[in-house]
Amino acid sequence: MKITKINIKKEKPDFSKLGFGKYFTDHMLVTDYANGKWSELQIVPYDRFSVAPCMASLHYGQGIFEGLKAYKTDNGTTTLFRPLDNLERMNRSAQRLCMPQIDVKIVSDGIKELLKIDEDWIPSLPGTSLYIRPTMIATEEVLGVHPSKSYKFFVILSPVGSYYANGLAPTKILVEQEYVRAPIGGTGATKCMGNYAASLLAGEKANRKGYDQALWLDVDHKYVEEVGAMNIFFVIDGIVKTPALVGSILPGITRDSVLKLLKKNGIPAEETRILISEVYDAYRAGTLTEAFGSGTAAVISPVGVLGYRGEDLIINKNKIGPISKQLYDELTGIQYARIKDEFGWVQYLK
Ligand code: PLP
Ligand code: COI
Repeated sequence: MKITKINIKKEKPDFSKLGFGKYFTDHMLVTDYANGKWSELQIVPYDRFSVAPCMASLHYGQGIFEGLKAYKTDNGTTTLFRPLDNLERMNRSAQRLCMPQIDVKIVSDGIKELLKIDEDWIPSLPGTSLYIRPTMIATEEVLGVHPSKSYKFFVILSPVGSYYANGLAPTKILVEQEYVRAPIGGTGATKCMGNYAASLLAGEKANRKGYDQALWLDVDHKYVEEVGAMNIFFVIDGIVKTPALVGSILPGITRDSVLKLLKKNGIPAEETRILISEVYDAYRAGTLTEAFGSGTAAVISPVGVLGYRGEDLIINKNKIGPISKQLYDELTGIQYARIKDEFGWVQYLK
């Protein structure tokens, strides 16, 4: 791996006011794909790229990304949470978008080297972490619609606080009744850039009405899918339910971790198709006791208000519920190495 270090380090932001994804560290990891292979990984100063106006990804959206985090533990070590799962998911996204596979081991070693160089950017205040964003874009300079012959892969790092402005305070989510995020057979199960572009309008609509994000339903507006940047869970009649991975939603790594934690704790959980009408009926019957989202950026985000057909369903008096709280504590406990990791999820930066 070639390493070119920056001469003068950037000034750090105030780590108590980070927000999400606003600051970037001193270095980044890059490699280019041409003639059927990736070049040697390089760590270079974080800087702008120069790109051709005709570059394929700018026109046809052949672009994918991932999101994972590094955490500073109380004793000063750095952990990574399930990094190989993110890189393997990136390879599945790449396959769906006709993009080349990355070598998961080489890239994860590269990310660890990058983290060592920029380790002083990992914030340590409660609720903060270093967000890692691997990205792949098509770089061929041609306007024909076909899979690009060349690509750029890069990893940038951003010290972050909580994704939602109000931290662990319950979120307000609006059930989207008009637009659709992804059909089965589409790209909904991948982390491709176009999914996010397609979700913006519903997100804006939700924001304008005073909600944080939209809850997507399936193409027939019957079944619950996921939220803009997180998977969704409902606690109904004491059973934790989350939409099954039918091919239109992202198989979240936090979602998978939540299901494994629930199983370990003996809390009944189901991956199933969930009718939005079933959620509403449970609310009316008083059996919908909690709702929460899960994601790398969102961690565990309780849902306090669900806007549905002009009505605000207030869940658990708009407070974080016991299952959401337990999951938040356990998940972050494992990530920050305060709790023993029985699952082999955490990797240490040595
Ligand atoms: N769903 C969407 C659309 C997302 O963008 C994310 C975030 O990555 C998730 C779900 C949660 O996935 P993960 O837990 O792997 O971060
Ligand atoms: C993540 O949780 O990693 C996400 O990608 C969510 C969002 C910032 C796109």
